[in-house]
Amino acid sequence: MAEPRELLVHELRDILYAEKKLEQVLPKLVEEATDSGLRAGFEEHLEETREHIENLQQAFEALGETARGQTCPGIDGITTEHEEFVEKHNATPEVLDLFLIGAGSRVEHYEIAAYTGMVRLAESLGEDVCIDLLTENLEDERAALAKLEAAARRLGTARAPAGAR
Ligand SMILES: [Fe+2]
Ligand SMILES: [Fe+2]
Repeated sequence: MAEPRELLVHELRDILYAEKKLEQVLPKLVEEATDSGLRAGFEEHLEETREHIENLQQAFEALGETARGQTCPGIDGITTEHEEFVEKHNATPEVLDLFLIGAGSRVEHYEIAAYTGMVRLAESLGEDVCIDLLTENLEDERAALAKLEAAARRLGTARAPAGAR
């Protein structure tokens, strides 16, 4: 690979796979969450995730490329951790909610990093349609992370290290 444009297409394939995987996983989180606010947040993000997939399909189109995903081991790893935790630990509803907040936050950080890099790449390539579509997704991911952090504070898990406040 020699061109930044090829990298953008590679990144789009990676995140398309990730978003499709999340479309499958988020209904499980909705089922598993006990706190109603947390559950509603996962439901809302499932709807947003479907929009993210549509935006990605449009971004491929804008670049004249076929929209196809490519295995993203990063997101597979996070979802495997989730499955293993649920299977092995027989957690109470309270603890499971806290776990789901952590798992969800890991995913949002992953997506935020991916979209931030892709927006930068699209900017350097002057791909205006891609910039707008990817920025939309990035802003949703940031908002989703902020909601998870609010849920963590509400459920009593905010643990800022001493001196960081
Ligand atoms: Fe997303
Ligand atoms: Fe997300």
